[in-house]
Amino acid sequence: MVQGAKIISTGSATPSVKVSNEQMSSIVDTSDEWIFTRTGIKERRLLTEYGQSVTDLAVQASLQAMESISMDPSNIDLIILATSSPNDLFGSASKVQYKIGAVNACAFDLTAACSGFVISVVTASQFIFNGTYKNILVVGADVLSKWVDWSDRGTCILFGDAAGAVIIQSCSSNLNSILNFHLSTDGNYADYLSIAYKQQLDPHPILNLYQGSFQHISMNGKEVYKFAVSQVPLSIISCLDQINMSIEDVDWLLMHQANERILMAVAEKLSISSNKIISNLSKYGNTSAASIPLALNEVVQKNKISTDDIIVIAGFGAGLTWGTIVLRW
Ligand code: COA
Repeated sequence: MVQGAKIISTGSATPSVKVSNEQMSSIVDTSDEWIFTRTGIKERRLLTEYGQSVTDLAVQASLQAMESISMDPSNIDLIILATSSPNDLFGSASKVQYKIGAVNACAFDLTAACSGFVISVVTASQFIFNGTYKNILVVGADVLSKWVDWSDRGTCILFGDAAGAVIIQSCSSNLNSILNFHLSTDGNYADYLSIAYKQQLDPHPILNLYQGSFQHISMNGKEVYKFAVSQVPLSIISCLDQINMSIEDVDWLLMHQANERILMAVAEKLSISSNKIISNLSKYGNTSAASIPLALNEVVQKNKISTDDIIVIAGFGAGLTWGTIVLRW
């Protein structure tokens, strides 16, 4: 029997340290006015405590999602940690698995930058649709503050640290909440947004191989902006079209929280009312894989979403990658 998949709980975590645009202007040559008018961002949270990593935020968000439905961690079958800033290149998901006590869960990282949460939810739902797993924890978490060049005013003003988590559970297919998805990649433009690995000039003297290290975030802001505003509406329309839905059916549009101007430009292209757009980026900046579940948890906590509401979730970012999920709450 084909199973349905439903988001049954949400959680989130942000560091306590807030950095305002005014404070940013003491670090780089910028101003609150420039940042706010270009991006809609007022402040961001940064993980500053020594020894803390993406794992700590991911654990906090996961515990909140489990506690809100009193779920025993041993019932979780799979953990997917969407992150591009792991604390260990071999992956951070297994530390999350250990720290939350999900002793029966397999855990792995999924790297897809700001599209990571959307791709992870789609991945998780496949394990549920085919009947393999019943309860899956999907966490989007990033600490891009560790990878930002704090002297580059073009990028450092944009990013913040956070984690968001959802628990997806199998259900009978007529209660299915994940109705459709659409995922895309265009690696031709990977250089528009990257944390590149740079090789040293001198090879190992005997083995003749090159080692190196990762660089800071580099971004072509204008091209990333154009990409998001052109591709995200197409992805949303195609995803709705395939299930005979239209923009009029959508109650909430939850996009990756990159930039208020991107959100409003996409809304305008889709002719969707701006009060259906979920946005909390003024308080957090762009938190990469965490941004969608962080904003989702906020609207869930505020009881804004009603049963049966149609939510369109759209992620986009480095890769370049982008994707849409249509779900019924
Ligand atoms: N404060 C003040 N001035 C700044 C600045 C800052 N933080 N960052 C850049 N500038 C300056 C530039 O140096 C440039 O000055 P110049 O004209 O003297 O050379 C000027 O502002 C315009 O820079 P530009 O890069 O053309 O700005 P923009 O209008 O494209 O806005 C972004 C920059 C980053 C806000 C915009 O391109 C954007 O939002 N892109 C999408 C980024 C994104 O969302 N990435 C993540 C996707 S997941």
